[in-house]
Amino acid sequence: RESNRNNRIRLKGNDVTCYLMFSLLTAVIGSLQFGFNTGVINAPEQKLRAFFNATWMERYGEPIKPGVCTIVWSFAVAIFSVGGMVGSFSVGVVANKFGRRKSMILVNILALIGGGLMGLCTLCSSFEMVIAGRLIIGLFCGLFTGLTPMYVGEVSPTPLRGAFGTLHQLGVVIGILIAQVFGLEYLLGSDKLWPVLLALTVLPAILQCLLLPFCPESPRYLLINLNEEEQARKALVRLRGYEDVGKDMQEMKEESAKMAMEKKVTIPELFRTAAYRQPLLIAVMLQLSQQLSGINAVFYYSTGIFKSAGVTQPIYATIGAGAVNTVFTVVSLFLVERAGRRTLHLIGLSGMAISALVMTIALLLKDIEAVRYLSIAAVFAFVAMFEMGPGPIPWFIVAELFSQGPRPAAMAVAGCSNWTANFLVGVSFPKLEV
Ligand code: GLC
Repeated sequence: RESNRNNRIRLKGNDVTCYLMFSLLTAVIGSLQFGFNTGVINAPEQKLRAFFNATWMERYGEPIKPGVCTIVWSFAVAIFSVGGMVGSFSVGVVANKFGRRKSMILVNILALIGGGLMGLCTLCSSFEMVIAGRLIIGLFCGLFTGLTPMYVGEVSPTPLRGAFGTLHQLGVVIGILIAQVFGLEYLLGSDKLWPVLLALTVLPAILQCLLLPFCPESPRYLLINLNEEEQARKALVRLRGYEDVGKDMQEMKEESAKMAMEKKVTIPELFRTAAYRQPLLIAVMLQLSQQLSGINAVFYYSTGIFKSAGVTQPIYATIGAGAVNTVFTVVSLFLVERAGRRTLHLIGLSGMAISALVMTIALLLKDIEAVRYLSIAAVFAFVAMFEMGPGPIPWFIVAELFSQGPRPAAMAVAGCSNWTANFLVGVSFPKLEV
């Protein structure tokens, strides 16, 4: 007990143990993976296009038509979101069947398969393996966009649930930045090594599988779903660092009683019940506004955009966008509890609209040297405004808007609308650009 006490860091009067932080950071590796696989496709665009062309030549004896190449390329990018749609939609079933911790371990198998397929694509001269790998990785990421926020929410002390909830988006943006840095030509973005870059996702998956057995199963899952009171108590004692967890146990039991009273809501019921209509509309609209803002046109394709804007070292501008993205997510961590969600979301979206307008003008005038820098600045502002609200808020608002009964169904619908809109942007942007 004494050593547990020593382990404790005091944060705003709440107890945060090293063990809790260790468990949270282990779970957030899932968010990091989502970010990494969102950003990883950006830098090696030309290498992938060249690879599609080479395999085409090998098979059909003629170069791939530019239109077909663009279709294959945008397909490889966007099929990730198709996997994401299916994964996010199934998260409730998986998490309840296997438990939170075991689900995370099992889901990592998908990263091994997907990463393996992409890593071996050049050896097998198969661009289909890139597409299949991206689909499986999408499935993996879709599951983690539900599993990580769920686990983080369930192991955190109640007063800190909001603050720790934002760790998910922080994990995502750091993952994007890591992908961009490793995508540098002299690191893994070279002609030879780009398949290794795509396969790199296997390493955090292995790391997370090694660490997860040392993390506790979610006490809420143990108590509320499995009715394992003693196990739940033990997990809580380790997480909180003291024996006297009666208050937390009591709170969970109350939640459990409420859940028993509140009918479990299926997805069709969610749509049919008048009381859920408004929160559902808000949740879905927020997800759609996040994705239809076009943010992932930046994170999937910015290197190409900067190049066509006449920027000489586009990859550094892409990394700059990733760095701005990370910094502003930290800023929003502090703002989100002070300013209202609605205000921040609206400010963010308006700022993005203005930045997009400036970007369009800059692209029209790209022959003027100075204007090229304006286009970079406009992309940076676009990303910064996104992280003010539209980035982090939609991911945690659904849990806030719904109570225990309809929450899983609402999360599935919201997550799936997010990934559907993500798909639409991913698949249509290269065509719109031409
Ligand atoms: C959010 C979005 C994701 C996007 C990221 C950018 O997490 O859901 O699609 O790539 O923000 O930071």
